[in-house]
Amino acid sequence: MAKLITHIRGLALVAPWLAYLLLADLLLSLLLPFKILFPNTVYNLSSRIASSVWRWIQHIFETRNGAVITTSGDPLPEGESAIVVANHVGWSDFYMIQALAIRAGMLGRCRWFAKIQLRMVPFLGWGLWAMGMPLVSRNWVKDKAELERVFRGITERRWPTWLISFSEATRFTPEKQVESRRWCADHNRPQPEHLLYPRTKGFVTTVQHLRGAPHIKAVYDMTIAYQRDRQFHRAPTMWETLSTPGLSRARGEGGGGYRFHVHARRFPIEDLPQDDEGLAKWLEDRWVEKGQILEEKRMKWAQ
Ligand SMILES: *[C@@H]1O[C@H](CO)[C@@H](O)[C@H](O)[C@H]1NC(C)=O
Repeated sequence: MAKLITHIRGLALVAPWLAYLLLADLLLSLLLPFKILFPNTVYNLSSRIASSVWRWIQHIFETRNGAVITTSGDPLPEGESAIVVANHVGWSDFYMIQALAIRAGMLGRCRWFAKIQLRMVPFLGWGLWAMGMPLVSRNWVKDKAELERVFRGITERRWPTWLISFSEATRFTPEKQVESRRWCADHNRPQPEHLLYPRTKGFVTTVQHLRGAPHIKAVYDMTIAYQRDRQFHRAPTMWETLSTPGLSRARGEGGGGYRFHVHARRFPIEDLPQDDEGLAKWLEDRWVEKGQILEEKRMKWAQ
Protein backbone atom coordinates (compact mmCIF):
# COMPACT_ATOMS: atom_id res chain seq x y z
CA MET A 1 0.00 0.00 0.00
CA ALA A 2 2.75 2.44 1.00
CA LYS A 3 4.51 1.47 -2.23
CA LEU A 4 1.43 2.22 -4.28
CA ILE A 5 1.08 5.63 -2.65
CA THR A 6 4.73 6.37 -3.45
CA HIS A 7 4.16 5.48 -7.11
CA ILE A 8 1.06 7.66 -7.31
CA ARG A 9 2.94 10.47 -5.63
CA GLY A 10 5.75 10.06 -8.17
CA LEU A 11 3.35 10.23 -11.08
CA ALA A 12 1.72 13.34 -9.65
CA LEU A 13 5.13 15.02 -9.35
CA VAL A 14 6.44 13.93 -12.72
CA ALA A 15 3.38 14.34 -14.95
CA PRO A 16 3.43 18.17 -14.92
CA TRP A 17 7.17 18.12 -15.54
CA LEU A 18 6.69 15.80 -18.52
CA ALA A 19 4.02 18.10 -19.90
CA TYR A 20 6.47 20.97 -19.53
CA LEU A 21 9.19 18.94 -21.26
CA LEU A 22 6.80 18.48 -24.16
CA LEU A 23 6.22 22.22 -24.30
CA ALA A 24 9.99 22.80 -24.12
CA ASP A 25 10.48 20.40 -27.05
CA LEU A 26 7.96 22.36 -29.02
CA LEU A 27 9.64 25.69 -28.26
CA LEU A 28 13.09 24.28 -29.03
CA SER A 29 11.78 22.95 -32.34
CA LEU A 30 10.30 26.31 -33.25
CA LEU A 31 13.70 27.89 -32.61
CA LEU A 32 15.59 25.52 -34.91
CA PRO A 33 14.82 27.31 -38.20
CA PHE A 34 16.30 30.53 -36.76
CA LYS A 35 19.55 28.87 -35.86
CA ILE A 36 21.26 29.71 -39.14
CA LEU A 37 20.45 33.41 -39.00
CA PHE A 38 20.67 34.02 -35.27
CA PRO A 39 22.82 31.27 -33.81
CA ASN A 40 23.79 33.13 -30.63
CA THR A 41 20.28 34.23 -29.76
CA VAL A 42 18.99 30.71 -30.38
CA TYR A 43 21.72 29.26 -28.17
CA ASN A 44 20.84 31.71 -25.39
CA LEU A 45 17.12 31.00 -25.67
CA SER A 46 17.69 27.23 -25.78
CA SER A 47 19.84 27.54 -22.69
CA ARG A 48 17.05 29.39 -20.87
CA ILE A 49 14.56 26.71 -21.80
CA ALA A 50 16.98 23.95 -20.80
CA SER A 51 17.63 25.68 -17.51
CA SER A 52 13.93 25.79 -16.63
CA VAL A 53 13.45 22.11 -17.50
CA TRP A 54 16.39 20.96 -15.38
CA ARG A 55 15.66 23.30 -12.50
CA TRP A 56 12.22 21.79 -12.18
CA ILE A 57 13.47 18.21 -12.01
CA GLN A 58 16.16 19.31 -9.53
CA HIS A 59 13.40 20.86 -7.44
CA ILE A 60 11.51 17.54 -7.38
CA PHE A 61 14.66 15.78 -6.20
CA GLU A 62 15.95 18.27 -3.62
CA THR A 63 12.89 20.14 -2.38
CA ARG A 64 9.93 17.82 -2.87
CA ASN A 65 11.80 14.60 -2.16
CA GLY A 66 14.19 16.01 0.42
CA ALA A 67 17.55 15.00 -1.03
CA VAL A 68 20.30 16.82 0.86
CA ILE A 69 23.39 17.25 -1.32
CA THR A 70 26.59 18.10 0.54
CA THR A 71 29.55 19.59 -1.33
CA SER A 72 33.25 20.16 -0.76
CA GLY A 73 36.37 21.17 -2.66
CA ASP A 74 37.36 24.14 -4.82
CA PRO A 75 34.99 27.04 -5.42
CA LEU A 76 33.81 27.21 -9.05
CA PRO A 77 33.76 30.77 -10.43
CA GLU A 78 30.39 32.07 -11.49
CA GLY A 79 29.76 31.97 -15.22
CA GLU A 80 33.01 30.19 -16.06
CA SER A 81 33.07 27.77 -18.98
CA ALA A 82 34.75 24.45 -18.38
CA ILE A 83 35.24 20.85 -19.37
CA VAL A 84 33.72 18.69 -16.65
CA VAL A 85 34.57 15.07 -15.88
CA ALA A 86 32.98 12.89 -13.23
CA ASN A 87 32.67 9.31 -12.04
CA HIS A 88 29.41 7.55 -12.84
CA VAL A 89 27.39 5.63 -10.28
CA GLY A 90 23.77 6.16 -11.22
CA TRP A 91 21.07 8.41 -12.58
CA SER A 92 21.34 10.73 -9.58
CA ASP A 93 24.87 11.79 -10.63
CA PHE A 94 23.02 14.20 -12.87
CA TYR A 95 21.56 16.03 -9.84
CA MET A 96 24.93 16.18 -8.09
CA ILE A 97 26.53 18.03 -11.01
CA GLN A 98 23.48 20.20 -11.53
CA ALA A 99 23.58 21.30 -7.90
CA LEU A 100 27.03 22.78 -8.55
CA ALA A 101 25.99 24.18 -11.94
CA ILE A 102 23.10 26.07 -10.33
CA ARG A 103 25.47 27.70 -7.83
CA ALA A 104 27.83 28.70 -10.64
CA GLY A 105 24.95 30.09 -12.72
CA MET A 106 25.65 27.55 -15.48
CA LEU A 107 22.65 25.23 -15.32
CA GLY A 108 21.31 26.20 -18.74
CA ARG A 109 24.81 25.95 -20.19
CA CYS A 110 25.34 22.31 -19.26
CA ARG A 111 25.88 20.12 -22.30
CA TRP A 112 26.16 16.44 -21.48
CA PHE A 113 27.72 13.74 -23.56
CA ALA A 114 24.81 11.34 -23.84
CA LYS A 115 24.35 7.93 -25.39
CA ILE A 116 22.97 8.11 -28.89
CA GLN A 117 20.29 5.56 -27.91
CA LEU A 118 18.66 8.31 -25.83
CA ARG A 119 17.58 9.92 -29.08
CA MET A 120 14.92 7.22 -29.26
CA VAL A 121 13.41 8.08 -25.85
CA PRO A 122 10.10 9.88 -26.57
CA PHE A 123 10.28 13.67 -25.95
CA LEU A 124 13.52 13.54 -24.00
CA GLY A 125 15.67 12.40 -26.93
CA TRP A 126 14.43 15.13 -29.21
CA GLY A 127 14.80 17.74 -26.49
CA LEU A 128 18.39 16.73 -25.76
CA TRP A 129 19.31 16.95 -29.40
CA ALA A 130 17.59 20.31 -29.86
CA MET A 131 19.33 21.68 -26.75
CA GLY A 132 22.64 20.85 -28.45
CA MET A 133 23.72 17.92 -26.30
CA PRO A 134 26.37 15.77 -27.97
CA LEU A 135 24.76 12.37 -28.61
CA VAL A 136 27.54 9.87 -29.15
CA SER A 137 28.06 6.18 -29.80
CA ARG A 138 31.64 6.20 -28.45
CA ASN A 139 32.81 5.04 -31.83
CA TRP A 140 35.02 8.00 -32.58
CA VAL A 141 34.82 7.68 -36.36
CA LYS A 142 31.02 7.67 -36.34
CA ASP A 143 30.87 10.46 -33.78
CA LYS A 144 33.18 12.85 -35.62
CA ALA A 145 30.43 14.96 -37.20
CA GLU A 146 28.46 15.19 -33.95
CA LEU A 147 31.52 16.26 -31.98
CA GLU A 148 32.37 18.87 -34.55
CA ARG A 149 28.83 20.22 -34.34
CA VAL A 150 29.22 20.71 -30.60
CA PHE A 151 32.85 21.87 -30.57
CA ARG A 152 32.17 24.42 -33.32
CA GLY A 153 29.63 26.33 -31.22
CA ILE A 154 32.08 26.49 -28.36
CA THR A 155 35.25 27.35 -30.26
CA GLU A 156 33.87 29.57 -33.05
CA ARG A 157 30.98 31.24 -31.32
CA ARG A 158 32.45 31.14 -27.83
CA TRP A 159 29.27 29.88 -26.30
CA PRO A 160 29.43 29.59 -22.52
CA THR A 161 29.36 25.88 -21.72
CA TRP A 162 29.98 23.21 -19.17
CA LEU A 163 30.79 20.25 -21.38
CA ILE A 164 30.22 17.26 -19.15
CA SER A 165 31.23 13.63 -19.56
CA PHE A 166 31.43 10.53 -17.44
CA SER A 167 34.91 9.31 -18.28
CA GLU A 168 34.25 5.71 -17.29
CA ALA A 169 31.66 5.60 -20.11
CA THR A 170 29.41 3.35 -18.04
CA ARG A 171 28.00 3.09 -14.54
CA PHE A 172 30.07 1.63 -11.75
CA THR A 173 29.06 -1.89 -10.69
CA PRO A 174 31.06 -4.43 -8.68
CA GLU A 175 31.08 -6.74 -11.74
CA LYS A 176 32.49 -4.06 -14.00
CA GLN A 177 35.05 -3.26 -11.34
CA VAL A 178 36.30 -6.85 -11.51
CA GLU A 179 36.65 -6.52 -15.30
CA SER A 180 38.40 -3.19 -14.91
CA ARG A 181 40.81 -4.66 -12.34
CA ARG A 182 41.70 -7.45 -14.74
CA TRP A 183 42.25 -5.00 -17.57
CA CYS A 184 44.46 -2.79 -15.39
CA ALA A 185 46.54 -5.78 -14.27
CA ASP A 186 47.02 -6.92 -17.88
CA HIS A 187 47.98 -3.45 -19.05
CA ASN A 188 50.09 -2.50 -16.07
CA ARG A 189 47.83 0.35 -15.03
CA PRO A 190 46.93 1.50 -11.53
CA GLN A 191 43.44 0.44 -10.48
CA PRO A 192 41.63 3.35 -8.80
CA GLU A 193 39.54 2.39 -5.73
CA HIS A 194 35.72 2.49 -5.98
CA LEU A 195 36.03 3.32 -9.70
CA LEU A 196 36.47 1.91 -13.16
CA TYR A 197 39.56 2.81 -15.14
CA PRO A 198 38.67 5.93 -17.22
CA ARG A 199 38.45 5.97 -21.01
CA THR A 200 40.92 8.61 -22.01
CA LYS A 201 40.22 9.10 -25.70
CA GLY A 202 37.14 11.29 -25.40
CA PHE A 203 38.81 13.44 -22.77
CA VAL A 204 41.96 13.92 -24.84
CA THR A 205 39.92 14.83 -27.95
CA THR A 206 37.80 17.29 -25.99
CA VAL A 207 40.73 19.06 -24.33
CA GLN A 208 42.72 19.27 -27.56
CA HIS A 209 39.77 20.83 -29.40
CA LEU A 210 38.63 23.22 -26.72
CA ARG A 211 41.85 24.48 -25.21
CA GLY A 212 42.06 26.89 -28.15
CA ALA A 213 38.84 28.59 -27.07
CA PRO A 214 39.84 31.51 -24.82
CA HIS A 215 36.75 31.32 -22.60
CA ILE A 216 37.31 27.66 -21.66
CA LYS A 217 39.39 28.30 -18.59
CA ALA A 218 39.43 25.09 -16.64
CA VAL A 219 38.78 21.39 -16.23
CA TYR A 220 36.55 20.46 -13.31
CA ASP A 221 36.88 17.01 -11.83
CA MET A 222 33.84 16.01 -9.80
CA THR A 223 33.84 13.12 -7.40
CA ILE A 224 30.40 11.73 -6.62
CA ALA A 225 29.71 9.59 -3.56
CA TYR A 226 26.58 7.95 -2.12
CA GLN A 227 25.68 5.89 0.82
CA ARG A 228 22.59 4.15 2.08
CA ASP A 229 22.65 2.70 5.56
CA ARG A 230 26.15 1.21 5.66
CA GLN A 231 26.36 0.60 1.96
CA PHE A 232 28.78 2.85 0.13
CA HIS A 233 28.08 3.75 -3.52
CA ARG A 234 24.44 2.78 -3.16
CA ALA A 235 22.47 5.36 -5.20
CA PRO A 236 18.70 5.56 -5.66
CA THR A 237 17.14 4.56 -8.98
CA MET A 238 15.72 7.19 -11.29
CA TRP A 239 12.18 6.41 -10.22
CA GLU A 240 13.12 6.60 -6.52
CA THR A 241 14.62 10.06 -7.02
CA LEU A 242 11.32 11.22 -8.52
CA SER A 243 8.82 9.44 -6.30
CA THR A 244 10.25 8.78 -2.81
CA PRO A 245 9.71 11.44 -0.13
CA GLY A 246 12.41 12.05 2.47
CA LEU A 247 15.28 10.63 0.46
CA SER A 248 17.86 11.87 2.97
CA ARG A 249 15.81 11.24 6.10
CA ALA A 250 16.94 8.32 8.27
CA ARG A 251 15.41 4.98 7.40
CA GLY A 252 14.19 4.58 10.97
CA GLU A 253 12.10 7.72 10.48
CA GLY A 254 10.54 6.41 7.30
CA GLY A 255 13.02 8.12 4.94
CA GLY A 256 15.21 6.79 2.16
CA GLY A 257 18.38 6.94 4.26
CA TYR A 258 20.53 8.22 1.39
CA ARG A 259 23.59 10.42 1.58
CA PHE A 260 24.65 12.48 -1.42
CA HIS A 261 28.01 14.13 -1.80
CA VAL A 262 29.97 15.83 -4.54
CA HIS A 263 33.55 17.03 -4.29
CA ALA A 264 34.74 19.51 -6.96
CA ARG A 265 38.28 20.22 -8.07
CA ARG A 266 39.27 22.97 -10.49
CA PHE A 267 42.34 22.78 -12.73
CA PRO A 268 43.32 25.74 -14.96
CA ILE A 269 43.42 24.38 -18.50
CA GLU A 270 46.81 25.95 -19.25
CA ASP A 271 48.38 23.72 -16.58
CA LEU A 272 47.40 20.52 -18.41
CA PRO A 273 49.98 18.63 -20.52
CA GLN A 274 50.14 19.56 -24.20
CA ASP A 275 50.47 16.12 -25.80
CA ASP A 276 47.86 13.36 -26.03
CA GLU A 277 49.83 10.88 -24.00
CA GLY A 278 50.42 13.38 -21.22
CA LEU A 279 46.70 14.19 -21.12
CA ALA A 280 45.75 10.52 -20.87
CA LYS A 281 48.18 10.12 -17.98
CA TRP A 282 46.79 13.28 -16.38
CA LEU A 283 43.29 11.83 -16.38
CA GLU A 284 44.60 8.55 -14.97
CA ASP A 285 46.26 10.48 -12.11
CA ARG A 286 42.98 12.26 -11.39
CA TRP A 287 41.21 8.91 -11.18
CA VAL A 288 43.74 7.50 -8.74
CA GLU A 289 43.26 10.58 -6.54
CA LYS A 290 39.51 10.35 -6.95
CA GLY A 291 39.69 6.80 -5.60
CA GLN A 292 41.50 8.14 -2.53
CA ILE A 293 38.93 10.89 -2.07
CA LEU A 294 36.15 8.28 -2.24
CA GLU A 295 37.92 6.02 0.25
CA GLU A 296 38.29 8.93 2.69
CA LYS A 297 34.61 9.68 2.32
CA ARG A 298 33.69 6.06 2.88
CA MET A 299 35.75 5.95 6.09
CA LYS A 300 34.22 9.19 7.31
CA TRP A 301 30.68 7.98 6.67
CA ALA A 302 31.44 4.64 8.30
CA GLN A 303 32.25 6.31 11.65
C1 LIG B 1 23.92 35.52 -25.09
O1 LIG B 1 24.27 35.50 -23.73
C2 LIG B 1 25.56 36.00 -23.45
C3 LIG B 1 25.90 35.77 -21.99
O2 LIG B 1 24.85 35.44 -21.20
C4 LIG B 1 25.65 37.45 -23.84
O3 LIG B 1 26.95 37.95 -23.55
C5 LIG B 1 25.36 37.55 -25.32
O4 LIG B 1 25.38 38.93 -25.70
C6 LIG B 1 24.03 36.92 -25.66
N1 LIG B 1 23.91 36.93 -27.11
C7 LIG B 1 22.79 37.22 -27.76
C8 LIG B 1 22.87 37.32 -29.24
O5 LIG B 1 21.75 37.41 -27.17
